[in-house]
Amino acid sequence: MRIPIIAGNWKMNNTISESIDLVEKIKSRNLNNMVEVVVAVPFTSLYEIKKHLEGTSIKLAAQNMHWEDKGAFTGEISPLMLKEIGVDYCIIGHSERRQYFNETDETVNMKIKSALKHNIKPIVCIGETLKEREENIQEDIVKNQIIKAFEGIDKIYIKDIVIAYEPIWAIGTGKTATSEEANKMCGFIRNVIGNMYDEELKNNIRIQYGGSVKPNNIKELMEKEEIDGALVGGASLIAEDFIDIVNY
Ligand code: PGA
Repeated sequence: MRIPIIAGNWKMNNTISESIDLVEKIKSRNLNNMVEVVVAVPFTSLYEIKKHLEGTSIKLAAQNMHWEDKGAFTGEISPLMLKEIGVDYCIIGHSERRQYFNETDETVNMKIKSALKHNIKPIVCIGETLKEREENIQEDIVKNQIIKAFEGIDKIYIKDIVIAYEPIWAIGTGKTATSEEANKMCGFIRNVIGNMYDEELKNNIRIQYGGSVKPNNIKELMEKEEIDGALVGGASLIAEDFIDIVNY
């Protein structure tokens, strides 16, 4: 059975005190215990938020990391630094990082390998642009992203990876893929994994949908067979909305 996973991606929002406020509001409420809940907070808040999550089942994620353990990489954060804080997950290859910070399938692959080496579970983001969807090449794009992202990664590690399918045209735009479209692509992704690895992984890997997930569309998405959770941006910044999404 695949345990649903709903992660809030706060992006570049919330100072440390704002982060504490938000996480305190979230943890003060009864959360759906059938769902693994994750908050992906800014680097500066990780250490403090880890302490505030103690005694809860909410997991902590970083939003990015470098693939090297240490070195002359000014401004970067290494997996060792995240590990010491006790980070459980790390978002890797978010489309905003690919778009604005020149992340490529190759760097995504290196980051995934490094995260796995340090027991940080990657949430790997993939998804097509509007133009690619209009050209009806979204499946080729996504397949290629998976093949490159997972290149050289052994089957035994894949179970720790979560895939987030996020069509770029649906991120922060208020346009959600229909639950049918999202389900179809998540099923396609599952098949790609099945072809690269085997049936067992195909059935066990968790695939989230992301892109304008809100309290009013989460239920429909979660009812779909291939969708195992959500990566939530904007709505994860409002405690009530995030709680409603988790308790769909
Ligand atoms: P959104 O962002 O929910 O604001 O569309 C999702 C994401 O980028 O992970």
